[in-house]
Amino acid sequence: MGMPPNDSFRFTMVVLLVLTSVFVGFWIEAEPSPAAGTAVDAEAPGVDGITGFEQMMQVITHRRCMNCHPAGDQPRQGEDSHLHRFHVQRGADGHGLAALACGTCHQGENNDFSGVPGAPHWHLAPASMGWEGLNRFEIARAMLDPEKNGGRSPAEIEKHLTTDPLVLWAFEPGVDHEGTPREKPPISREQFIAAVKAWFAAGAPIPEPSSSGTEAD
Ligand code: HEC
Ligand code: HEC
Repeated sequence: MGMPPNDSFRFTMVVLLVLTSVFVGFWIEAEPSPAAGTAVDAEAPGVDGITGFEQMMQVITHRRCMNCHPAGDQPRQGEDSHLHRFHVQRGADGHGLAALACGTCHQGENNDFSGVPGAPHWHLAPASMGWEGLNRFEIARAMLDPEKNGGRSPAEIEKHLTTDPLVLWAFEPGVDHEGTPREKPPISREQFIAAVKAWFAAGAPIPEPSSSGTEAD
């Protein structure tokens, strides 16, 4: 005979609990550590305003963003930012001309079979937000200028930069029509969001070109 059923039940529960905690402990140990930072060392919480600016601008000036914020009326494509094929045009509302509306090809998410990138409300940034050819100081000023940014307040720009699906798409850009992964911006999405928040928390300072490298960049 063994233990009375009640004790036996308790014993089983204890064994299960021990096994579970051992297993969970092992599993936590086995979890890969989050991807390490790449180009810049963003110790997120300690980032000051100017560092935040420089990190944020590494992303904004990347072609994943700039291809959709061109100076002219055509989006650009690829790592060399060539003009979008099929003569795709802005159209009156940025969604393309009727016959070649962006949504004819671009869906709500990347299509990794055809290589067509996608995200909700995929369309071309308005001409006033065409940053191509501007340096990062000019881009920052334009981005904060309500005359050019769609009448947004700094808080609304911060929200756009940290939550808009087109911005976030740049960090998961999928593959092109040849199946080659599109290059991602040099810092992770988390580092970018931390940099943006640090910049706005510091009052969105735009450094003097001379104090942070060349005017040309
Ligand atoms: C698929 C095209 C597309 C991509 C890719 C894209 N944008 Fe935009 N962006 C737009 C459109 C369209 C608007 C205007 C949306 C509106 O006014 O509602 C916009 C507006 C903005 C604005 C607000 C306007 C301003 O001048 O402040 C910011 C900031 C911005 N984008 C940043 C970015 C950043 C940063 C990236 C890359 C990480 C990016 N965008 C990628 C299409 C795009
Ligand atoms: C006839 C189909 C079609 C239409 C219409 C179309 N696109 Fe595209 N687009 C594509 C394909 C295909 C690619 C991917 C090409 C590649 O990278 O291999 C692409 C790529 C892009 C890229 C490049 C992303 C990057 O960073 O490399 C942008 C930006 C873009 N489209 C914006 C637009 C906008 C904005 C519109 C509407 C004004 C539009 N497209 C209309 C088919 C289309």
